[in-house]
Amino acid sequence: MKMALISINVAQAFVILVAASLLAVSQAKTVVVGGNENWRSGFNYTEWAFQNNPFYINDKLVFKYDQPSESSSAVDLYWMPDLYSYMTCDFSRAKLLADATQGSGEGFTVAMNQWRPYYFACGQGDALYCKDGMKFFAVPWPRWFK
Ligand SMILES: *[C@@H]1O[C@H](CO)[C@@H](O)[C@H](O)[C@H]1NC(C)=O
Repeated sequence: MKMALISINVAQAFVILVAASLLAVSQAKTVVVGGNENWRSGFNYTEWAFQNNPFYINDKLVFKYDQPSESSSAVDLYWMPDLYSYMTCDFSRAKLLADATQGSGEGFTVAMNQWRPYYFACGQGDALYCKDGMKFFAVPWPRWFK
């Protein structure tokens, strides 16, 4: 009797453990880009992206930046169409995701819901912010890679 009771408890514990680990795997993370630095010019995001890898599908990136004012220059967020545009900071075919006003408050959130490279860059400052490192890319992996 006692033995049976113990084995049920072990089985229950096992089920709970498996359920908990499945839950952990399926939970997407939400990351503020740049951490405490937020999204700003003069910060190199390549290193940041490297440290925050890997990303998985449905992870969310939050871009936070102040509205342009006397103390903060305008920044924005573009989606670069390919690696070459990304590398050369060529915005001719880039898509504006968030303008200079859209990063305030809770910030602007991008959900990476496809298995593809996401190239992000700031288009302000005549592309100089981008050339200075205000860009990064992320490839969110399917969860079964974990
Ligand atoms: C940003 O950091 C990466 C990795 O350290 C480096 O390869 C790259 O040249 C840096 N970019 C700039 C504009 O300094």
